[in-house]
Amino acid sequence: MNIDNKKFNLVGFSNPFKILDTEDCKKILKEKYIPKQNYTWAKSIHEKSFVISKLASNKNLIDKVKVVLGQDIILWGSCLINQKAGNQHSWHCDLEFENWDGVTIWIGLKNLDEKTPLSLISYSHKIDTFPQKLVEKKINPENDQQILDEARKFDSKCEMKTFKLKDGEAIMWSGRVWHKTINLSTKSRESIILQFATPKNQIKIPIKYDYKNMQWLDKNPPCLLVSGEDKFNINKVIKINDVKVKNKLFNFLEKNVFLIRYFLRSVYNKIKKFKF
Ligand SMILES: [Fe+2]
Repeated sequence: MNIDNKKFNLVGFSNPFKILDTEDCKKILKEKYIPKQNYTWAKSIHEKSFVISKLASNKNLIDKVKVVLGQDIILWGSCLINQKAGNQHSWHCDLEFENWDGVTIWIGLKNLDEKTPLSLISYSHKIDTFPQKLVEKKINPENDQQILDEARKFDSKCEMKTFKLKDGEAIMWSGRVWHKTINLSTKSRESIILQFATPKNQIKIPIKYDYKNMQWLDKNPPCLLVSGEDKFNINKVIKINDVKVKNKLFNFLEKNVFLIRYFLRSVYNKIKKFKF
């Protein structure tokens, strides 16, 4: 599926597209065992994971991003997300995109079905406010109709679009698009987000997600160059080969130690909960 640049800029998102097969999804999910303290911040698993860096450099993905951002592209954010049964991430806008432009690609990895929908509001990326701010007006971010009514006050063309993706399917949206996810199923749903920008944007690490008073760490996050070149030199740009070399050190054995540790900790927590 090709991206229509004009339509994407107008509406704010692409149609869903298939990008991974089941084996790819499994391989990517194994990367969740890399301890979070091993990477610089919550959205930089790509600096430690060759598998995720390779996914973010996938030609089929990058060709879509290029249509919107042009030739020079960095991946600034990557994050595996486990949404437990019954949980939701109510309407919001990713606050980093209030500070720089770019796109998000959201990919379903495991247990996606009719009951794990993802919703977006068309045309919302051009609106000069976002759901977190609407709470001040007593708008409930869990109420679809209230959120949509507010969006329509800014642009009557806004519509709520709900997608029921399958494992291995992806969708791309413009950074500031209002979105929500919910898991109405009985299993944990696994996904990954990849967030891209052009190298002319200065990327920072948020330490407090408060739109009134965003606070940033005084440290540059690692951004992976996935296409073209960095002519601006304002970010800490890494290349896929750097990740590949480091990944050799972080070998199969080490990954399995993390995996075993992860499961032992889960079992311990369950026993502790049971006892007390
Ligand atoms: Fe989000």
